[in-house]
Amino acid sequence: MKQTINSLYEKKQKSEPISWLTCYDYSFATVLNNSELDMILVGDSGGMVALGYPDTLPVSMNEMILLSTAVRRGAPEKFIVGDMPKGSYEASNYDAVSNAMRFVKEAGCDAVKLEGAGSMADRAYAIVDAGIPVIGHIGLTPQSSAVLGGYRVVGRSSEEVNRLYTDMEKLASSGVFGILLEAIPPKTAMELTKKSNLIVFGIGAGKFTHGQLLILHDLLGLYPNFRPKFAKNFVPYVLPEFLAMIASKDEIVTFGRATRRDGLHEIARMAVQMYVADVKSGSFPDENYSYKD
Ligand code: KIV
Repeated sequence: MKQTINSLYEKKQKSEPISWLTCYDYSFATVLNNSELDMILVGDSGGMVALGYPDTLPVSMNEMILLSTAVRRGAPEKFIVGDMPKGSYEASNYDAVSNAMRFVKEAGCDAVKLEGAGSMADRAYAIVDAGIPVIGHIGLTPQSSAVLGGYRVVGRSSEEVNRLYTDMEKLASSGVFGILLEAIPPKTAMELTKKSNLIVFGIGAGKFTHGQLLILHDLLGLYPNFRPKFAKNFVPYVLPEFLAMIASKDEIVTFGRATRRDGLHEIARMAVQMYVADVKSGSFPDENYSYKD
């Protein structure tokens, strides 16, 4: 069943953790489409892991639309969020609305995500006013990491914690339905979550948010350049089961031709299934994949 904003709110009310993964192409999208995953983000992280940029800054709207359309083709049954890339929304409400509209009309996305609060909350308001659901993103916001002083945990000082509360309130009054907290100490993220009427998602924000996001390439151990603390590679945990399944087949060529369950697609399927189960049970992220308070 494809999630809707209402069904996601219901999950929050029932304290059922929401599972969310990034994706950037058709083949992996088919893996996600056939899983119990709740949501997909076509993140601008795709600029790094799929397009090879050193960071997310160069990613263009056209590139995001290309990635998003491929994901939509592979995952027709998933709630897909398009990530607004740097330069696509900051300058004006006009830019913000017209680019958000491209995600919906050209790529079939269900919602968009944008980074920042302050005047970015005004951009979020304009997009919501145009009828497009929005998720805000605060804490570590990679598109403005130069202003933040690099990729780092946010919310260790009382000034930063106060700022997170203010930003969250500002975004809430702009009409966003959800907010993503990135790289925030778990207790701070828990307090923010308790105080919010929104659906609160976390990446590197501990286990107490309503939903969890992870980069697909981190879950698969596929991106060689950088692995943050919260990035769990699930592949080593499913590989024994995969190898046992393959070993039990008399004729691997026939089995592979008939089922396609003899390669990376199957390993990814198993890893995604484990991630979804671990998010649902609350066992991911544990303290090994969370920052210290
Ligand atoms: O682009 C992305 O994947 C993101 C996450 C890092 C939060 O925005």
